Amino acid sequence: MQVFATKSRHSQPITHFYHIPKQGLTPCGCGFVLLHIKYTTMKIIGTGSSHPERKVTNHDLAQFLDTSDEWIATRTGIRERRILTKDNITDLAVEAAIDALNNSQKEPGQIDYIICSNIINDYLTPGLSAIIQSKIGTHCPCLDINTACTGFVYALQLAESLQVAGMAKNILIICAEEVSKMVDWTDRASCILFGDAAAAAVVAPGDNLIKIKTDCIDCGDVIISGSRHEKTPFDTEGNDKYFPLAMNGREVYKHAVTIATYKIESILKECGMAHSDITYYLLHQANLRISEAIRTHIGEDESKFPSNIESFGNMSSAGIPCLLDDLNKGGKLKEGDRLLLCAFGAGFTTGTCIIDW
Ligand code: ACO
Repeated sequence: MQVFATKSRHSQPITHFYHIPKQGLTPCGCGFVLLHIKYTTMKIIGTGSSHPERKVTNHDLAQFLDTSDEWIATRTGIRERRILTKDNITDLAVEAAIDALNNSQKEPGQIDYIICSNIINDYLTPGLSAIIQSKIGTHCPCLDINTACTGFVYALQLAESLQVAGMAKNILIICAEEVSKMVDWTDRASCILFGDAAAAAVVAPGDNLIKIKTDCIDCGDVIISGSRHEKTPFDTEGNDKYFPLAMNGREVYKHAVTIATYKIESILKECGMAHSDITYYLLHQANLRISEAIRTHIGEDESKFPSNIESFGNMSSAGIPCLLDDLNKGGKLKEGDRLLLCAFGAGFTTGTCIIDW
């Protein structure tokens, strides 16, 4: 972090920037006055997740698609996914939020801000974060973001900014996605990939976030879905712009592997770290072959790249926090473990972060 300081003994003010390490302030030297010090590096203090009841296996898909368990599993690593039927994404999001609150030992009333990553839900407005707030019984500002699969990392970055600005301490992040409602269920190259889920995390001030970076790179319309608009008296043609998710799988694969590998190498370099300094790499679980290709470039052991895509499919932004929750509840994380999160999604948005557990 950079801190603004002015040397008071000079008649003309001199402006300097000082690097402040995590532990506190570096000595400023005689005569320097620190004008503004607000510093936090955030800690994840609880996680939660929730899945629809309906399990859909590759064999189930082969009942109505020209596909097979063998084709899907070999190319994507996915064996089954959960799909919403009579249950709904709001209830999943609330369950995940309550799970994370319990895990963090925070009451809803202690939450200062709610950030929800979500592409679609039952309403355009109010936002899902506002609905979640009323259902968990708290009162605080709420914000929805849509950066597709990178939503969790974007939300962490926003949360840190709110903490640094002194606007919030305890922040509830929920990623709730129902991609099953966006895909074309006759397109065997895309609908096989996705599963519905909600996952959440509570962050508090701490000393654990080392670096977080987000970006957006124009890769054309490699993943795109249209939304429906009402007709207006002024635009009577072409209002129905809805179309289901369309994806150029090969292009997504190429961009995802190249960009994610580059982003991982860059953040490690900026932090002066080696591949081996990372305990776990938590990648967006787009499909296992993408993760495998990234892992091959990084050259680290498979055990450092946990995944639960086999059972849940690609859950968009809920994927990383869901995996984090599995590791947390499964007792796989110990204090001081260093996690590198790397997500990529429609846009092409990217988010990379190094955070200690
Ligand atoms: N079952 C059987 N055959 C299939 C299926 C299926 N489910 N899907 C496609 N095929 C066929 C195609 O019709 C084609 O047949 P043809 O040669 O007779 O025309 C053949 O398999 C090859 O099709 P491709 O689309 O070229 O298949 P590819 O080997 O590229 O695999 C896949 C498709 C798995 C989608 C791959 O492109 C991929 O992994 N892409 C990454 C996409 C991704 O992960 N997206 C996630 C969402 S975006 C995100 O999260 C960032």
